[in-house]
Amino acid sequence: MERAYYVTTPIYYISGQPHIGHAYTTIVADVLARTARTFTPTFFLTGTDEHGQKVANAAAAAGKSPQEWTDELVPRWKELFATYHVEYDDFIRTTQPRHIEKVRRVFDRLRERGDVYRGKYEGWYCVHDETFWLESKLVDGRCPTCGRDVQWISEEDWFFRLSAYRDRLLEHFESHPHWVQPPKVYNEMMAILREGLDDLSISRTSFDWGVPIPGGGVIYVWLDALLNYITAIGWSEDEARFHRYWPANTQLVGKEIARFHTIIWPAILWALDEAAPGLVFAHGWITVDGQKMSKSLDNAVDPFLLAQRFGADAMRYFLLREAPFGSDFSYSEAKIVQRRNSDLANDLGNLLQRTLAMLQRYREGIVPERGPSNDFARRFGELGATVRERILNLRFREALDAVWELVTALNRRIDERKPWELHKRDQTEELDAVLYDLCEGLRWIAILLHPFMPERMGEMWQQIGSPGRIDDDWSASLRTWGGLAPGIYVKPAAPLFPKLELDLAPPP
Ligand code: MSP
Repeated sequence: MERAYYVTTPIYYISGQPHIGHAYTTIVADVLARTARTFTPTFFLTGTDEHGQKVANAAAAAGKSPQEWTDELVPRWKELFATYHVEYDDFIRTTQPRHIEKVRRVFDRLRERGDVYRGKYEGWYCVHDETFWLESKLVDGRCPTCGRDVQWISEEDWFFRLSAYRDRLLEHFESHPHWVQPPKVYNEMMAILREGLDDLSISRTSFDWGVPIPGGGVIYVWLDALLNYITAIGWSEDEARFHRYWPANTQLVGKEIARFHTIIWPAILWALDEAAPGLVFAHGWITVDGQKMSKSLDNAVDPFLLAQRFGADAMRYFLLREAPFGSDFSYSEAKIVQRRNSDLANDLGNLLQRTLAMLQRYREGIVPERGPSNDFARRFGELGATVRERILNLRFREALDAVWELVTALNRRIDERKPWELHKRDQTEELDAVLYDLCEGLRWIAILLHPFMPERMGEMWQQIGSPGRIDDDWSASLRTWGGLAPGIYVKPAAPLFPKLELDLAPPP
């Protein structure tokens, strides 16, 4: 079976309503998946992490059983992703039988291999992060990751021999210096490895919302959750399918969960005789006043409201353009409006409007013949390859910068060649050539920005008169300047991104 490109997001704790930070990783994965699909079969997995104490507590607080609670909330997450035009291939829930039965199998295999043993765990536990902490790691007696209170636990548990994988992890990090990105996170993980690893408790006995272990207790929610990446694609069930996707090309995670994905996860995979993923990219946070946006800090922003006020595609654009992927960036409505108005309404929207209006005015809405070859063919011949390469390397902002060079060049062409003057002077061929380049440029822009703004670029594609669905075959449609057929009718101009006033954005 042909190998496919496999991209994953973390699976989200379903302990409350989703916020924009949750939409963020999934949108990024969608941009990546949409781009990968233009040249290779692709599989994009997302889903929900439904077991564990955190979810059980949230359900109890709402007076519901955890199953009722998660069943009620899952549609909300699916709605969130649909609102943001996310096209995942599969949505896994850790409460599904397809997942649970394989988690049990993993546990049995680890036991058979001697990678799991029985012991007593005594130490601290952060329910918010579902993380065990040694006393020495606490900061002022609190969780070093989220700063919350921790609870003391003392349980008979099962342990995974994580410490036995330390040397192999170090070797892997040394021989694959780019497998964890960005470099800052790679270095942090290396520092943890150098310090040494303790074995990991992989069961809990004080509550029962999880995958049961024969003889009592449930599987630690992080082991359960990490396994989603392989249970969803047929591990231990359909080897051909599994190896079509595994090892994953790109696993996207927030930086706070890098340790689980780059130290614990590869060790578990190796214990199962499977390979580590190709790349784990740990991205930064959307922050408010310098703090991570999060439900429990009560600074979370409703993603449904944002899509309604600013537009789902404009939000997607904002999230990928605002900061280099990997860095934190602060949330601000003013910045969203500013991006939308200056980049989308002014630079791009006006280019489209002006072009369509001139075509109506001077050429009855018909795309004219192409002129003699010019610098566009040379300058932008490589653009498709450049943008694809940058997206696949998760340099989204730079990919957008490259597309904006073309947007700027086309706007400049209008300003310099002044089509209205060419028309006045009856310079028919010159006018045709300028108008053709504008239409061809817009066609390229629609294709290249389609992974970022799928809905609006689909509309732009229609407006410039291109037939059918937006062309997803980048290599064929972008190879040379001039792929657009003359003689097609464009549509009358309708604004793609009407300008917004911050205060006039519709109320919730
Ligand atoms: N359930 C675990 C992950 C298990 S994966 C095997 C978990 N869930 S979570 O719901 O707390 O959040 C997961 C992800 O949401 C983060 O890793 C990150 O990708 C994203 N974000 C949550 N808040 C965020 C911000 N404020 N900013 C950016 N991303 C954020 O951890």
